[in-house]
Amino acid sequence: MTVKNICCIGAGYVGGPTMAVIALKNPTIAVNVVDINPERIAAWQTDELPIYEPGLLDVVKEARGRNLFFSTNIEKGIREADIIFISVNTPTKTYGIGKGRAADLRFVELCARQIAEVSTSNKIVVEKSTLPVRTAQAINTILSETGSGVKFQVLSNPEFLAEGTAIKDLFAPDRVLIGGDQTPEGLEAIEALTSVYASWVPRERIIQTKLWSSELSKLTANAFLAQRISSINSISALCEATGADVDEVAYAIGTDTRIGSKFLKSSVGFGGSCFQKDILNLVYLCEFFGLPEVAAYWQQVIALNDYQKRRFAMNIIQTLFNTVSGKKIAMLGWAFKKDTNDTRESAAIYVSDYLLNDMAKVHVYDPQVPAKAMYADLDCLGTRNPEHNRELLTVVADPYEVCKDAHAITIITEWDEFKTYDWQRIYDNMMKPAFIFDGRNILDHKKLMDIGFKVKAIGKSY
Ligand code: NAD
Ligand code: UDX
Repeated sequence: MTVKNICCIGAGYVGGPTMAVIALKNPTIAVNVVDINPERIAAWQTDELPIYEPGLLDVVKEARGRNLFFSTNIEKGIREADIIFISVNTPTKTYGIGKGRAADLRFVELCARQIAEVSTSNKIVVEKSTLPVRTAQAINTILSETGSGVKFQVLSNPEFLAEGTAIKDLFAPDRVLIGGDQTPEGLEAIEALTSVYASWVPRERIIQTKLWSSELSKLTANAFLAQRISSINSISALCEATGADVDEVAYAIGTDTRIGSKFLKSSVGFGGSCFQKDILNLVYLCEFFGLPEVAAYWQQVIALNDYQKRRFAMNIIQTLFNTVSGKKIAMLGWAFKKDTNDTRESAAIYVSDYLLNDMAKVHVYDPQVPAKAMYADLDCLGTRNPEHNRELLTVVADPYEVCKDAHAITIITEWDEFKTYDWQRIYDNMMKPAFIFDGRNILDHKKLMDIGFKVKAIGKSY
């Protein structure tokens, strides 16, 4: 089968960049990215893209209007496509059965129903969203009840890109995973999707599996990555208690090729839209399938991450003489990691919430996150009313201004620009003693201490 037309439902952090790269590398395939959100679609048509991602604008500009299109006409996109990617959000359920743990699949289900309703020719439907194992079965059931004679093949093709490095990851993925039915039709569909990726990904990096293996591999990959961070963060607490240095420990263990050096950077806690959501979903699945011991094992990765965020905030309060009431605390960074404007589950939200509970005056600077997003994050927590959040939290556009007269500075995101600041100038304009709480261990602590700062950092005991 020759693929001529692709539709992607969902123009978010995954759908947008992924389809931009597929379009760039397959100039003969028309790629239509559709979404119910008109503002998002409008932004994709300008040079002010709705998401900040290094290198993305160049890719979009090259393919947009040639074979990459953004639209709110979902039905047309579906009808014309040979392959339809479902790339909509699958957040943690906030209601009913599985509340707080299971993935909310209502957006995925809506897509499946719409595909079933409007399709007039055979289609390959690809799960790009991260989904619980066996979701393809539900999608298949919806698609096979149309009575229209149209045939569908459901594939699982989870996305492994990380935000901030999405374009790099998409250009040179460690692997592309495609799961499908092991029937002749299923294998043909797998081959059709493989041909799209094979335009730029070496064939040996395209892994073909059964459907359920592919679905489960995505949750497992995220659980393993997050587990490494919680493991090193657990050791950071022990380092602070014993005088060992967490970066030295991470380096020493990471040089063992069986362990490896990546994802051992101790931090204020992992954030992002994926890790917590996907582990909670894994925990829910384990319980559902009667495996409480397995569920408890993975739940601990989340518990440790919550502990790390709380521990960091409590350390600030205790160090500042057991209260931050009325004190100005400068927060550098709000995004969940550098090189993204995404704030979902960022440690900044929880750390600031703890500080605001103790009546601190938190002033925030982030190079990419707008004030609107920060307030929305805090309002979503529901700890206090929106007016109170705006009273206590101030968003500042200049990093030197945000630190002026502060009692302490907290580093939450590892933005590179923080390392280039004139720290002597910042020190001179702060309240004394001037504290820095480095939640990312990105600054030169010795230099800061020479200037006069009192430095507290994750996994260090200065
Ligand atoms: P997102 O919220 O940025 O984007 C999802 C988009 O889908 C939104 O723009 C929303 O308006 C749209 N949408 C929802 N329902 C729709 C419908 N019925 N019709 C049309 N559009 C609809 O989410 P995201 O970060 O791109 O994540 C999408 C999926 O990919 C999730 O399952 C996530 O777990 C997974 N994933 C995310 C990442 C990541 O780094 N963000 C990485 C790998 C996998
Ligand atoms: C993650 C997975 O890496 C990616 O494969 C998947 O497709 C989506 O989820 P993402 O959440 O975008 O990607 O970013 P990632 O680089 O994994 O970072 C997640 C969080 O962990 C961030 O808050 C980051 O700062 C933190 N982190 C990461 C650490 O604290 N230490 C590390 O060593 C690595």
